[in-house]
Amino acid sequence: MKAAYIKAYGGPDKVEIGEQSKPEVRTGDVRIKMKAASVNPIDWKTANGDLKALIKPPFPIMLGSDGAGIIESIGEGVSNFKIGDEVFFRCHKMDTGTFAEYFSVPAELVALKPKNMSFIEAASIPLIGLTVTQSLTEKADMVSGSKVLIHAGAGGVGTFAIQYAKACGAYIATTASKKRNALLSELGANEIIDYHTQNIEDVLSDYDIVLDTLGPSVHTASYKTLKKGGVLVTVLGIPDNETIAEYGANFMVKIVARMHNKKMHKLAAKHGALYKHHLMYASGSQLAEIAKLIEAGKIKAIIDSTYPLDQVQAAFERSMTGRAQGKIIITMD
Ligand SMILES: NC(=O)c1ccc[n+]([C@@H]2O[C@H](COP(=O)([O-])OP(=O)(O)OC[C@H]3O[C@@H](n4cnc5c(N)ncnc54)[C@H](OP(=O)(O)O)[C@@H]3O)[C@@H](O)[C@H]2O)c1
Repeated sequence: MKAAYIKAYGGPDKVEIGEQSKPEVRTGDVRIKMKAASVNPIDWKTANGDLKALIKPPFPIMLGSDGAGIIESIGEGVSNFKIGDEVFFRCHKMDTGTFAEYFSVPAELVALKPKNMSFIEAASIPLIGLTVTQSLTEKADMVSGSKVLIHAGAGGVGTFAIQYAKACGAYIATTASKKRNALLSELGANEIIDYHTQNIEDVLSDYDIVLDTLGPSVHTASYKTLKKGGVLVTVLGIPDNETIAEYGANFMVKIVARMHNKKMHKLAAKHGALYKHHLMYASGSQLAEIAKLIEAGKIKAIIDSTYPLDQVQAAFERSMTGRAQGKIIITMD
């Protein structure tokens, strides 16, 4: 089967498209004939070697972290899906490779594709959807009426986060370039701050939650928008000490992480706020809940662009500009 992979770390030019053996169907797996998969920054960060202190699978590293397709084979012990089911999923972090014609994945990570979405639309959802729902609900305890600042509202995570927060009854501010205003207000943003010309701390105050996809450069200003006891959840940079330990990082990585996290918590405490890092995890049952929101018309897919499988390099280059509006998709047909 045709698949995208790297045999050495480097930029997009290290991405190869070639023949790989069709994945076997292990106990508990379903094998999916892939229709589409989404590009997430983690894919090109993996190819760059940016994550090798934490996740270091052997070469060739198969690329692609989520997607949608049709189940074409069922492993032993799987009873909740059947051949022909249309599904979407996020794979395990150490077992990537959805930029391929076929992919085998534990059935527990899979959910039925929302009926009102195409494969391209459904493929845009799993990684960002799980990131957002886990960050805002599990980490930040968002409830109806919460005031939430979502950084980079026009990105993959941001466009989903605005819609999810709206569906949960939150009041939403977001940062974006002015040209994104029409889309972001349609998605549900109440306040849109043009980060090129405005400072968030000059216009926002008493927020409960900040969802950060940009990193420490926006933390001090973000804390100034929070009320006392508010929480900043970041999905960027070094994970928390517990996650680092779970991944079996070496001694030096653990020391660097501890120093970084201490600094992050200290800055939050200075502003009377909390700092949390979230590294998303795969879950079929959570995706099924997300599918219900989509089918209820509360969340739609925002697609920046689509590329065929043999153009993963070009798709990575587009993602690396940091200018995509919504999601970049790889199609298999
Ligand atoms: N920890 C986790 O589990 C996890 C999960 C998902 C994603 N992430 C990380 O989250 C980050 C964001 O992911 P993504 O998929 O949303 O990225 P993305 O789609 O590539 O984000 C692109 C968007 O960011 C906006 N942007 C860039 N700089 C900005 C700024 N200074 N202020 C406001 N908006 C800005 C751009 O809008 P303009 O062109 O208008 O500037 C563009 O629309 C990535 O680094 C990714 O690795 C982490």
